[in-house]
Amino acid sequence: MGTDPFLIDTDFDTGADAAGLCEFIDASPSPFHACVTVAARLTAAGFTEIVETDPWPREPGRYLLRRAGSLVAWVSAGDDPTRPFRVIGAHTDSPNLRIKQHPDAERAGWQMVGLEPYGGALVATWLDRDLGVSGRLAVRTDAGVEHRLVRIDDPVLRVPQLAIHLAEERGQFKLDPQRHLDAVWGLGAAPESFVGHLAAQAGVAESAVLGWEVMTHDLTPSAVTGVSGELVSAPRLDNLATCYAGLEAFLSAADRAAAGETTADPVLVLFDHEEVGSMSERGAFSDLLTSTLERTVLARDGDREDYLRALAGSLTVSGDMAHATHPNHAERHEPAHRIVAGGGPVLKVNQNLRYASDATGAAAYAAACDKAGVPLQRYVHRADLPCGSTIGPIAASRTGIVTVDVGAPQLAMHSARELMAAADVPMYAASLAAVLV
Ligand code: CO
Repeated sequence: MGTDPFLIDTDFDTGADAAGLCEFIDASPSPFHACVTVAARLTAAGFTEIVETDPWPREPGRYLLRRAGSLVAWVSAGDDPTRPFRVIGAHTDSPNLRIKQHPDAERAGWQMVGLEPYGGALVATWLDRDLGVSGRLAVRTDAGVEHRLVRIDDPVLRVPQLAIHLAEERGQFKLDPQRHLDAVWGLGAAPESFVGHLAAQAGVAESAVLGWEVMTHDLTPSAVTGVSGELVSAPRLDNLATCYAGLEAFLSAADRAAAGETTADPVLVLFDHEEVGSMSERGAFSDLLTSTLERTVLARDGDREDYLRALAGSLTVSGDMAHATHPNHAERHEPAHRIVAGGGPVLKVNQNLRYASDATGAAAYAAACDKAGVPLQRYVHRADLPCGSTIGPIAASRTGIVTVDVGAPQLAMHSARELMAAADVPMYAASLAAVLV
């Protein structure tokens, strides 16, 4: 028998956390910018950024490194090479529309920019929005190829809908990702190429731009909404809400770890490319996490045996957003596993291992929620619908570390604009913090 989830009164400063989440998301339109946002918070908290081509630091301390749109941070609190790790994992990328390699076109008197979907975007939600662009350019310089982040928050792009009077069956028009998602950005003959426009924003010559990963973002600011300010309306809640909650949890654990109050070293790993399968040099299939953990052990004069002993005692909590029961589509949800927005964090279990949770991981997270004083909701997808997945099963199979998949409830996952309860932000962060300490 399940208990009825209910809205709880807590001591959490829900308003401040909701505002903090909105600020975090608006500062992070691309995975690259999300990593800059997180790195800035970490650096301000005393973390040192290292690069992987340098020797690994041998002193205990607080460190982070970035691989483009991915980031890993850890606290090395002692010199025992068999000391286990407590890992919080999440992803920095979100479905969106991205710029093609030959984006420029002129059609019917309009200047067009060629876009295509990244990941499982609900593409209809991207139409009729004023879009900015962000990402990174690979630029030729005298010192070699360097990367420059770009961000344009002017409403330069827009993908217009077809008028209802022109649709074959009114309102039932089916969007084709090849033909219907190009953006307009002007009229008449283009004064410059789109890449030239990006280059000018970055202060470089167009001819110096050798490669780019550039995407669009909705310019509507994130907002605390609802009749009593109980909701957060924002883009990229999947999965920047976990990046935010995980960062808050990791920062509080870092202080405890540095003070010698933890039995395991806290780690925060934020992967790019989850929405497209994680298979890249910086995705969850990469060695980003394993090489960080192994080099940390080796830097303590540990060997492979010590590394494997450390992993055997470790735990990963894979955080990714969960589906709140939709008020207009309740029948799409497993009826005995209703998830309430504002009802606390969610344990995600799937018998076909679309989620990594097993009994051991579930117990660890349930105990953490208990310790944090927050309610826990248990999610199971309908058996007759295909279940989404996360970095959890991938990270678990790459590391052999017991892994549990968790999340916070939201609606409209993969929409350009998603929705969650403000109360879940601090409860989610508190549960993750309790995992780490
Ligand atoms: Co996700």
